Amino acid sequence: MTHSMTGKIALITGAAGAIGLATAKLLASQGATIAATDMVGADFGPLRAAIPDADRLLVIEADVTDEAAFGAAVKATVEKFGTIDIFFNNAGIEGPVAPIPDFPTDGFRKVLDVNVTGIFLGLKLVIPVMAKAGRGSIINSSSVAGLTGSAGLCAYIASKHAVLGLTRAAAVEWGAKGIRVNCINPGPIESRMMSSIEEGASPGAGAAVHDGYAATIPMQRYGTPEEVAGVVVFLASDAAGYVNGAAYTIDGGMTAA
Ligand SMILES: NC(=O)c1ccc[n+]([C@@H]2O[C@H](COP(=O)([O-])OP(=O)(O)OC[C@H]3O[C@@H](n4cnc5c(N)ncnc54)[C@H](O)[C@@H]3O)[C@@H](O)[C@H]2O)c1
Repeated sequence: MTHSMTGKIALITGAAGAIGLATAKLLASQGATIAATDMVGADFGPLRAAIPDADRLLVIEADVTDEAAFGAAVKATVEKFGTIDIFFNNAGIEGPVAPIPDFPTDGFRKVLDVNVTGIFLGLKLVIPVMAKAGRGSIINSSSVAGLTGSAGLCAYIASKHAVLGLTRAAAVEWGAKGIRVNCINPGPIESRMMSSIEEGASPGAGAAVHDGYAATIPMQRYGTPEEVAGVVVFLASDAAGYVNGAAYTIDGGMTAA
């Protein structure tokens, strides 16, 4: 099913990463205009190559934990494109991999800062723009780690459960104003982030960890960033017009098992 995104303005955080990039490309291919944000110094090269039309792409460096910087990114988007119809609140980090007694406390705080405070600030700064327009679709990046536990990833798991909570809070608070807020809960996706988690779980043997994880998934493989992007675009579209406060697994059946 294709969804016409012509004329829609989409703001994406973590847009230089695997899932953000795939989503920006899919949205743009369906006609959307993209405001792409990521860390200062992030590599936006692949994104610029995929969307060469400067009228259809605005690139902004902004740390999602920096309220002033992300506020300036939202302002720049509205100044250039007029509004924000779609917000993919996606930036996140995996953090350390360690059992709880060994888990570095500063690492725990950092993961919550990016994955929870960052998502909160995104909602805080974008919702007023959408409320003014009387419509909008927000998609927050949670994870299967927002639905179930696993060893060694306490900060990531706590943070992604919090994203589900923020999604429900915002959906209830803003549904009456025409703003739909949903989250996606991908399972393992072929990406830098999963390679980092695999290496953290068993240094030097990440490939074996990968194959072990894949074997536990009913579909017997990881997903691709493009398969995540497809669900984000659906949730962003009018086809999902009555979907609000939902959590969409994209996990090959992992959480069904
Ligand atoms: N890769 C997976 O298997 C997987 C599975 C489930 C959920 N997710 C979630 O999907 C989202 C995207 O993951 P990905 O695989 O594309 O990872 P990625 O590391 O490729 O992309 C994440 C992007 O976020 C950016 N970022 C990190 N901290 C930031 C900050 N403070 N301010 C601004 N930008 C920041 C990074 O620079 C990076 O470009 C994350 O929230 C992740 O937790 C990923």
